[in-house]
Amino acid sequence: MPPRDEKMTNKAIVYSSTLGKTRKIAKHIAKELGADSFDLKKQTIINLSEYNHVIFGTGIHAGKPYRALVDFLNNNKEQLSGKKRSLFISCKLDAERGEEQLTKVSKELGINDAFFFPSKSEKDENGIDVSLGSFIKEMSKR
Ligand SMILES: Cc1cc2nc3c(=O)[nH]c(=O)nc-3n(C[C@H](O)[C@H](O)[C@H](O)COP(=O)(O)O)c2cc1C
Repeated sequence: MPPRDEKMTNKAIVYSSTLGKTRKIAKHIAKELGADSFDLKKQTIINLSEYNHVIFGTGIHAGKPYRALVDFLNNNKEQLSGKKRSLFISCKLDAERGEEQLTKVSKELGINDAFFFPSKSEKDENGIDVSLGSFIKEMSKR
């Protein structure tokens, strides 16, 4: 029998959102994956020891990921080493320019497993990106 307080999830979502779009996506992913989520606006000190996969999310301003996420990654290199890391960005740019931006941002953050959700992408009746389903499936395999 596992200890009673053992979590089913080993995934955490750590996100930075200014206008709420990234938060909405993060909350949806967390619900679907049964993962815990952490809003860097509310909390910048996060103990990630019980997680082995951390999914980061951020919006983009002027081609850059949000400062709160950049700072968190810089300040937590030690506790993140050895963990699987993925990234999603919510942004305006789509298609080729969106891909280019994603490549640049993922390099800058040092996270290769990266995805983007452009604001123009197709939404379901709840305003959720339809491409989120396949992202969640991918994340559940990590
Ligand atoms: C001032 C400003 C600058 C932005 N710059 C970019 C940009 O360079 N590239 C891009 O793809 N989206 C850009 N966007 C769009 C945001 O990244 C997008 O709306 C994102 O979903 C916001 O995430 P949030 O709601 O979680 O803050 C910009 C938005 C604002 C308000």
